[in-house]
Amino acid sequence: MSYFEKVKNTEINPNAIILAVESSCDETAASVIKGGREVLSSVILSSATEHIKFGGVVPEIASRAHTTAISKAVEQAISDAGITLTDLDAIAVTYGAGLLGALLVGVSYAKALAFSLNIPLIPVSHIRGHLSASYIADKNLKPPFISILASGGHTAIIKVDDYYTYDILGQTLDDAVGEAFDKVARVLGLEYPGGPNIEKLAKQGSNNIELPKMLKGKKGYDFSYSGLKTAVINYVHNREQKGESVIKEDVACSFQTSAIDVLVEKALLAVKETGINTVTAGGGVVANGYLREKLTAECEKAGVKLVLPERKYCTDNASMIGAEGYLQYLKGNFANLDLNAKASVSLK
Ligand code: KG4
Ligand code: ZN
Repeated sequence: MSYFEKVKNTEINPNAIILAVESSCDETAASVIKGGREVLSSVILSSATEHIKFGGVVPEIASRAHTTAISKAVEQAISDAGITLTDLDAIAVTYGAGLLGALLVGVSYAKALAFSLNIPLIPVSHIRGHLSASYIADKNLKPPFISILASGGHTAIIKVDDYYTYDILGQTLDDAVGEAFDKVARVLGLEYPGGPNIEKLAKQGSNNIELPKMLKGKKGYDFSYSGLKTAVINYVHNREQKGESVIKEDVACSFQTSAIDVLVEKALLAVKETGINTVTAGGGVVANGYLREKLTAECEKAGVKLVLPERKYCTDNASMIGAEGYLQYLKGNFANLDLNAKASVSLK
């Protein structure tokens, strides 16, 4: 009997122990999660320091770093969880979106392990994983809710109707918000990764530079970050050409305010228009302290329930892949050994 024949009718265990593997960018991550919401371990080995001198992730370097780190990450996750490999019910792996060479390391590893243990392999979308991080934050969270997705590759306001059905209310028409953070950071001479460094600098600055408010205040839920990014770049270059000083702290603070306020505003608009009174958020930019404070304050003011994943579950991690993997496991959505990696996957 083939591997898939053996696993396809696996009896579903509501308390399943799932090993999740994530290797879409520069973090090699492994996590063990029980019943979809209880994180037993979460290991992240990052190759970020190897990319600093290049100003961004170099795919080839990331792939090789995954190759050397993946066994270590999985062994550590299994040992931290206090289990053995034979306790696993399934293996979840990110198959997309991300860097192909990087994804293939996780996909190949997960396939081999699932095959050798004779347990199901669950293909997980990285984007859905970011949204499912909220299930870890609140064990009682149930759809429907409005979610802000804000990462390096995506920016959207999503209506989560049930565990499997999403409605994208609006999304970025050009750059993602995280991408804008990274590009502005580069212009300011800050090291990769740009987001956390902008946040640090912004704490010492003021929101006193006039920047486009993008689509803020306008109807609808779409975003545009390329205009904001260009305005910041032009501001810096114009002042430099005139020999005027650039107060980087103020640029960082003004940019951060413009970039984040619109996200918060659109999420609350969605609450108002749909009548859904719960907001969640996911993606690396949700680790941003200003976003967290502003969203918390606005939700409090409007009497809206807010579920925010801890920072470590906002940036790339494998626990969120386990949380989403569990939902797919309940549906019996298993992959065969020909599972391939995909550079992009649709938001839905
Ligand atoms: O979700 P993520 O880790 O990877 C993707 O799926 O893209 O998001 C990475 C993005 C990067 O653009 C990074 O600069 C941004 O999230 N980011 C932040 C912060 N931490 C990470 N942006 C603003 N403030 C932060 N503290
Ligand atoms: Zn991500």
